[in-house]
Amino acid sequence: MTASRVCALSELEQDAALRVEVDGVAICVVRDSNDEVHAIGDVCTHGDISLAEGFVEGETIECWAHGSAFSLTTGKPLNLPAYEPVPVFAVTIDGDDVLIDPAVKKEI
Ligand code: FES
Repeated sequence: MTASRVCALSELEQDAALRVEVDGVAICVVRDSNDEVHAIGDVCTHGDISLAEGFVEGETIECWAHGSAFSLTTGKPLNLPAYEPVPVFAVTIDGDDVLIDPAVKKEI
């Protein structure tokens, strides 16, 4: 499998999340305040909620349903009720293209 273009870098606002789907995998793409782009599994591990609908703060995104915040760099939840991590995917930036291969997990 190869990486697919999921959006343009210029489409991503700072401290905002975008839900994309690649090969049936829902991915939450976030451009943080340092302009770093992160890609994590979009489904909260506590319930069937899109993390992209949550709140970005620094290097975390908070699920709006019950408040678990997930690290954008490790995928780990930082507080209950979620206790299982979400996957973290490698992101490639090529010019203005954001590319993700859901088969490639980021080295943590
Ligand atoms: S569904 Fe996300 S914290 Fe409960």
